[in-house]
Amino acid sequence: MKFFYSIFSLLTALGASAKSNSTKSCHEFPSSMIEYSGNFQQPLPPLIKTEFETSFIQHKWNVNLSHIQVGYIYFSPSQGLVRVDEAYQGGLATSVFNYANTTDDGLVDNILTSFDSYPDQPTVWQGYVQSNYPLFGDDILVSGDAVFAGLVKRDHVQGLVASWSIMYAGSIPVTVFVDSCGVMVGYDYFSPGLRTRVTTDLFNTIVGPVKV
Ligand SMILES: *[C@@H]1O[C@H](CO)[C@@H](O)[C@H](O)[C@H]1NC(C)=O
Ligand SMILES: *[C@@H]1O[C@H](CO)[C@@H](O)[C@H](O)[C@H]1NC(C)=O
Ligand SMILES: *[C@@H]1O[C@H](CO)[C@@H](O)[C@H](O)[C@H]1NC(C)=O
Repeated sequence: MKFFYSIFSLLTALGASAKSNSTKSCHEFPSSMIEYSGNFQQPLPPLIKTEFETSFIQHKWNVNLSHIQVGYIYFSPSQGLVRVDEAYQGGLATSVFNYANTTDDGLVDNILTSFDSYPDQPTVWQGYVQSNYPLFGDDILVSGDAVFAGLVKRDHVQGLVASWSIMYAGSIPVTVFVDSCGVMVGYDYFSPGLRTRVTTDLFNTIVGPVKV
């Protein structure tokens, strides 16, 4: 009994420390952020937490396609890398985007290792792509001169989150969702060139330095 109790407290303690960074500096949204409150005043864009590992679900569609991907992502602005481990119809893949190696028109170096007919040998492909997993620094809303877009509800996050609009790479309207702890919990965008909509929810997030 004592043994089980100790193991249980150990696990509880580990759980608490693993989550500690994600619960730090949480606040209630003030009434000035409630759209139809008499106190409303557009808030200043905050610094946000964008270095973390997280579960995700993403739906991308246009007139010709509908792709839903789920998996686990490592966002590391400090290393300039994003790693996406994903499952999709008929396959598994791990995709690493190197934001230190991009083209002038915004394409990103990508190494995609995929198991299209698991458990056969994976195929490895490398080239420049348009990434659906943008790497945002903690000042993305400040440097992007973000416009507050209201407190909203997202499917995988408890309570309300703040939404912020920016123009990414000059031409892609992006909405970034930030919870009351300052952690990015999703982003939506519309790509005018490709007439494509992408919506991404991030949840089960562990904030802190990640090693890709
Ligand atoms: C959809 O497919 C058609 C036919 O292949 C093509 O002409 C069109 O450009 C595609 N549209 C998009 C948004 O990919
Ligand atoms: C940059 O990315 C391109 C396209 O994926 C790749 O061919 C090239 O080897 C990369 N260069 C470096 C230094 O990683
Ligand atoms: C929490 O943040 C600190 C400082 O950034 C870091 O040293 C620590 O590893 C983080 N903890 C977790 C569980 O990510």
